[in-house]
Amino acid sequence: MPIVLAISGSLRTGSYNTSLLSVAIAMLVEKGATVNGFDFKTMPLPIYDADMEKNEGFPDNVLKLKAEVKRADAVVIAGPEYNAGPTPLLKNAIDWVSRKNQQWSGENEWDKKVVAVISASPGAFGGVRAQYVYRNSLSHNGAFVVPDLVTLPLATDAFDVQGNLLNERTKKSLDRNMANLLEVSSRLRGL
Ligand SMILES: Cc1cc2nc3c(=O)[nH]c(=O)nc-3n(C[C@H](O)[C@H](O)[C@H](O)COP(=O)(O)O)c2cc1C
Repeated sequence: MPIVLAISGSLRTGSYNTSLLSVAIAMLVEKGATVNGFDFKTMPLPIYDADMEKNEGFPDNVLKLKAEVKRADAVVIAGPEYNAGPTPLLKNAIDWVSRKNQQWSGENEWDKKVVAVISASPGAFGGVRAQYVYRNSLSHNGAFVVPDLVTLPLATDAFDVQGNLLNERTKKSLDRNMANLLEVSSRLRGL
């Protein structure tokens, strides 16, 4: 069974995207996957700086993230929407991982990685406008993004006190998305 890296694009305590990711993680574990996390709160990445990259190489936490993406068979990302676009936190992480600095690491770890992108928002669109930007950036880098579109609009009222998703249709589509993530990554990796 695949090793999956789970990344939330929010630092906020009580984040809807982190809550949605937790439900996705439970589904993946139930299907037999091993799930690792990467926490930007404890392992922050500096804003991408080409001079820093050139003169000092990749910062330690960037190297850690690149290593986690590399060893994962699949990645699931939950990303919020800010001003109809991606959050700087997540876009910055995608950008750092994409860097193939020959001096420090010759790899773009997104290349041929199977990735599921999901999003949640208190608004009516569920973060779909940001999700398309994350998807586009990841595909641009050679990732195979699972086509299923899972968005969670009106997220304020979407969870019960235990953090379960209340809407059965959303639960089903998330479960199908996670099943597809595991199936495609297993086939690609010959697992
Ligand atoms: C700067 C900023 C811009 C935002 N713009 C949008 C937006 O365009 N669309 C949207 O649905 N929510 C927007 N929001 C609201 C976020 O969806 C909300 O803060 C959400 O809780 C963030 O995700 P999280 O709960 O995972 O932290 C914005 C929030 C901030 C701080």
